[in-house]
Amino acid sequence: MAKSYGYGIIQDMNTRIFKTSENEIKEAARLIANGGLVAFPTETVYGLGADAFDPEAARKAYAAKGRPSDNPLIVHISKFEDLERATVIFDEARGGDEEAVEVCGNVRKLAAAFWPGPLTMVLPKRDEVPKETTGGLSTVALRMPLSEPTLKLIEYSGTLLSGPSANLSGHPSPTRWQHVRSDLDGRIDGIIAGDPCYGGIESTVLDLKTMTILRPGLITPEMIAAVTGREVAYDKALFGKPSEDPDYHPMAPGQKYKHYAPKAEMHIVPEEKLMARVKEEEAKGRKVGYISKPEAGSFFAKLREFDEDGVDIIFAAALPEGDSLNFSIMNRVLKSAGYNIEE
Ligand code: TXA
Ligand code: MG
Repeated sequence: MAKSYGYGIIQDMNTRIFKTSENEIKEAARLIANGGLVAFPTETVYGLGADAFDPEAARKAYAAKGRPSDNPLIVHISKFEDLERATVIFDEARGGDEEAVEVCGNVRKLAAAFWPGPLTMVLPKRDEVPKETTGGLSTVALRMPLSEPTLKLIEYSGTLLSGPSANLSGHPSPTRWQHVRSDLDGRIDGIIAGDPCYGGIESTVLDLKTMTILRPGLITPEMIAAVTGREVAYDKALFGKPSEDPDYHPMAPGQKYKHYAPKAEMHIVPEEKLMARVKEEEAKGRKVGYISKPEAGSFFAKLREFDEDGVDIIFAAALPEGDSLNFSIMNRVLKSAGYNIEE
């Protein structure tokens, strides 16, 4: 029976599961070239791939995820030269614009150091990239993911791939192809059944003009500064709680949405109080899930396991402050918990 999920989408498509053989990747690439949606593996999380130059494909991707369409998408490339198809920064540099020359220098250094890998670069967009892909912004976010099957998928599709995380809006990000199937079966054309994602949290998003990190990830400010020799800042919005801070105007608009939430209520507690709180809730007869040391590689998968086990309440110990990797992980933990912090 077809079920309606709002946003005009009907859950009655046949979602094909593709293996990573040459032939199956080619078939999946044909679906993308024909305007379809195919989920793909990366080193961070699974992405929901669509032709980045096709406004209709972007609309379909939003509908499949069940999310309003004002959030800009990351565009995935398979080789450095693909950048020219999406950004005008190299034209500007060739035209002698000094700022653009410097930005291009940093793009080259960062790509050499971290691509393929979990760094996304925000650059001025070409007119050909539709506003449906960039959420109406004049910039485009670009990254080369570290996954052989996905690099082939992009190349064989003949286009570039927009790819938000391949989960239903609000659910934890998918780090295994089975997570994608459990959220999007019947709503997309296919899933490439690749490896589990060992990175586990989404890529670092860096604005190249201002050298500002808009979303923290596994590539830290220190790593970017070491490669470029430039100071790197965090977007101020990363420090506030979204709903309560009247000055909350994130440069990365995706940061304002409710994210990654498990079904159970989730609390962040100081590490030394964790087990006492677990016992206290268990004594009330509640089924408790807990994470004593949140790790990037397993965090989202743990939340999904807690969902499946039907726990009533989840505790996560806060990681120590003052460490960039901990900051990236806590960014996801705080969002998943809806900023529910126990002192
Ligand atoms: O690891 C990842 O980046 C995963 C995998 C699948 O590659 N992809 C991912 O894509 O997380 P998406 O589209 O969900 O991430 C979009 C993030 C949001 O925070 C969005 O606001 C920001 O990137 N973003 C995209 N384009 C932007 C732009 N032009 N300016 C500022 N932020 C942008
Ligand atoms: Mg997401």
